[in-house]
Amino acid sequence: MKTVYKNIKQLIGAYEAPTGLLEGKAMADAPAIGNAFLIVDGDTVEKFGPMDKLADSDMLDAAVEDLSGQFVFPAFADSHTHIVYAGSREQEYEDKIRGLSYVEIAQRGGGILNSADLLRRTTENDLYEMAMERLARCVEGGTGAIEIKSGYGLSTESELKMLRVIRRMKETAPIAVRSNFLAAHAFPREYADDHDAYVSLIVDEMLPEVAKEGLSDFVDVFCDDGFFTVPQTEKILAAAAKYGIRPKIHANELALSGGIQLGVRYNALSVDHLEHTGDDEIAALKGSGTVATVLPGAAFFLGMPYAPARKMIDCGLPVALASDYNPGSSPSASMKFVLSLASIKMKLSPVEAVNAATVNGAHAMGLGASHGQIAPGWKANFIITKPMPSLAYFSYAYTENLIEKVVVNK
Ligand code: NIG
Ligand code: FE
Repeated sequence: MKTVYKNIKQLIGAYEAPTGLLEGKAMADAPAIGNAFLIVDGDTVEKFGPMDKLADSDMLDAAVEDLSGQFVFPAFADSHTHIVYAGSREQEYEDKIRGLSYVEIAQRGGGILNSADLLRRTTENDLYEMAMERLARCVEGGTGAIEIKSGYGLSTESELKMLRVIRRMKETAPIAVRSNFLAAHAFPREYADDHDAYVSLIVDEMLPEVAKEGLSDFVDVFCDDGFFTVPQTEKILAAAAKYGIRPKIHANELALSGGIQLGVRYNALSVDHLEHTGDDEIAALKGSGTVATVLPGAAFFLGMPYAPARKMIDCGLPVALASDYNPGSSPSASMKFVLSLASIKMKLSPVEAVNAATVNGAHAMGLGASHGQIAPGWKANFIITKPMPSLAYFSYAYTENLIEKVVVNK
């Protein structure tokens, strides 16, 4: 079955020849066709162009949708989420309102450990149901590919349980799913006095099992002040490298932790968060191929400084945007709001923000050759907006629901 979308006010991010990762100045532009058509055959993009190139024969036996006044652009590639969790944490939200910081909450045994307690008591099936419900909210919000991390199990049994939930989601979700093994998210209570022993458990017991079952596409570590040190992180990345598992790590959220440099040294696909990034970190990232993924939703929710994404782009780096959807620091599926924050708080232009959330987000999870762009022969994954005056309006009207329909295929 063919569908012809016609009279599209602007078709954005449609490439005859798909682009690679967008770095620095290249993020400033996206292909845009005014008064455009787009033809989808079954689940695949067939062709697109300006309306004067649409032939009557193209519309033979096709469903035709008139998108006058509306925009079409690629579905978001949300390359950093933690949507497998057992319950929300609004108690901590209230604690934060009363003045406690994220780190203080964690030091009191709350935060990630709170989520771990609950997750360990929750069945695999219940976790799956809850996570699929969240994934549906992500798709409604325009997400067409997603990376999901473990990291609320913090024991061999519960980390594997999380990864099996993600594996099931890969099979059943309507969008592409990538998995990331994040046992090194926090030190579980059992190892409060012997952090190195927990690192050994990850390396000697969990990783071999994860590799044997092929349960994860990537490995992650929360490499930061008060969490995993650079030597501990290195031990995990080196062990994962032996299995050919590439890192995508949490780095420099809380301090100039050295995580960025370590990630680059281990050929990380991305380093994520980056609120604390100085000139040395930018120099390390430059030309490395490691994507700088920023998560403004977490900085917003925690009231922390935003990553210097404007400076990163000005220095020529490839920047990606992701939601960090999780119960502790970013309880939101909305990539649209992430775009608004990127422009309002980080000074990315609306087009840079779209590129960061589509083309570069897909590259940041190894899906750059199939997602984040509209291209002939690629699966159709795109957003149809409601009528609006300009692309900038999409993130400018930051509480308005401007998504009319999300077309996803995998
Ligand atoms: O990306 N920074 C570490 N991990 C998550 C938060 C996890 C949580 O608080 O539950 C993040 O922000
Ligand atoms: Fe995260």
